[in-house]
Amino acid sequence: MMITEYTDRFPEGFLWGGAVAANQCEGVWDEGGKGIDLASTFKKGLSAGFIGITADDEYNPERTGIDFYHRYKEDIALFKELGFKIFRTSIAWTRIYPTGEEKEPNEAGLAFYDSLFDELLNAGIQPLITISHYEMPYHLVEKYDSWRSRKLIGFFEKYCRTIFERYRNKVKFWLTFNEINNMRRNAGYVGGILFHEGENRMQAIYQAAHHMFVANALAVKMCREIIPDAKIGVMCSLSNVYPYDCHPVTMLETMDCRRRSLFFPDVMLRGYYPTYIYRLWKENNVNITMETGDLDLIRKYTNDFLAFSYYRTTTHAKGQPFFGDTGGDNGTPNPFIETSEFGWQIDPDGFRYTLNELWDRYQVPLFPVENGLGARDTVEDGKIHDPYRVAYLRDHLKAMKEAVCDGVDIMGYTYWGPIDIVGAGTFQMSKRYGFIYVDKDDEGNGTLKRMKKDSFAYYQNVIRTNGEEL
Ligand code: BG6
Repeated sequence: MMITEYTDRFPEGFLWGGAVAANQCEGVWDEGGKGIDLASTFKKGLSAGFIGITADDEYNPERTGIDFYHRYKEDIALFKELGFKIFRTSIAWTRIYPTGEEKEPNEAGLAFYDSLFDELLNAGIQPLITISHYEMPYHLVEKYDSWRSRKLIGFFEKYCRTIFERYRNKVKFWLTFNEINNMRRNAGYVGGILFHEGENRMQAIYQAAHHMFVANALAVKMCREIIPDAKIGVMCSLSNVYPYDCHPVTMLETMDCRRRSLFFPDVMLRGYYPTYIYRLWKENNVNITMETGDLDLIRKYTNDFLAFSYYRTTTHAKGQPFFGDTGGDNGTPNPFIETSEFGWQIDPDGFRYTLNELWDRYQVPLFPVENGLGARDTVEDGKIHDPYRVAYLRDHLKAMKEAVCDGVDIMGYTYWGPIDIVGAGTFQMSKRYGFIYVDKDDEGNGTLKRMKKDSFAYYQNVIRTNGEEL
């Protein structure tokens, strides 16, 4: 869309919807020919890092999820009632290639997604598909040390070819790697980088990232060849960070902190390594091995749009180290804004700020594909009153509308976890985002029954009025 005049309305055809990931909802983690994925091997939530594989007698909620694998028809009927235009989920790579190395794909896995996409399309809902959302084959991590190895590019390419060819008539919106920029931290879950004792971690991260950039470019190339009318985006975690004070050094450090994130879309959207990275590499003894043609591919095949998650903001105080988890950077609490019961600070104005920042920098359509409030809910007489979730959503949607008035090109909005799913960072069911309650607790007890919360009607009306009534 070319914006040529002032508008204060969401465009016609704005893609309202919701987003989940296969590993957090499907369950059925080792049936239907599925191989073992990275996320379901983590003993605790992903924020705890990789601390060994879950033993057979230990409970891991990712393995059963909310049984979306069997209940997706019921759930999609509810999404239709909400008025969704689009629904984001991921394909579990291990349902298609259980170890990543097979020559032939697993037909049962392919057939499952065929039915899922048909169900969505019949409900008038477009699928938006993340190709890899923390759930790569664990086998590739064990055998090849994951994306450290260039071999992974080939396995990913084969997987992409299979799904692009199979779903070419069904899926027109794709995302490559979920929150690829979380690679910058000690984050084994994005690219399966489980660190070795004493190794130069930055070296491992940026070498793996280079392989993923090449894989991303190849996916863009292949998607354009196989599904010319599709769009394929980058997906990053872009919750923001402010300087804690106006000391010039705080300012410079905050710029550096933000660049560690923006580096990833910089490469994939602008098509080249930003020059600031060479200093970081030099000062940290990082030497990237590249092959002839890599930079050319990265230059030629940049993504069509920038999808991102935005949950919160934090601040950077002078001298503070950079760290974070699933929702973004963790810094010094901002005294001007509130904090959720799970410790994430709530900042709708930061959403408008971030949308403007990203539009100014990239000039490609933006798609917030994750935003929402994780909170504890209480069921009283079969009802769930969640005014806190409505308030969070309303304030963020108002901020997004302000960004539209600012001239930002936004394709759509998918709320994170429209139905309660397993939390990624902490593996908690009790950190609920949904408009639809799922009866399951942190220990795995419950009937899995679905119930509408008050926020259901609120979001339904937002979509019905295309965001005119917020
Ligand atoms: C994002 C991830 O980082 O944050 C999701 O893409 C995740 O997978 C979401 O669920 C919210 O984080 P959490 O830890 O509350 O589930």
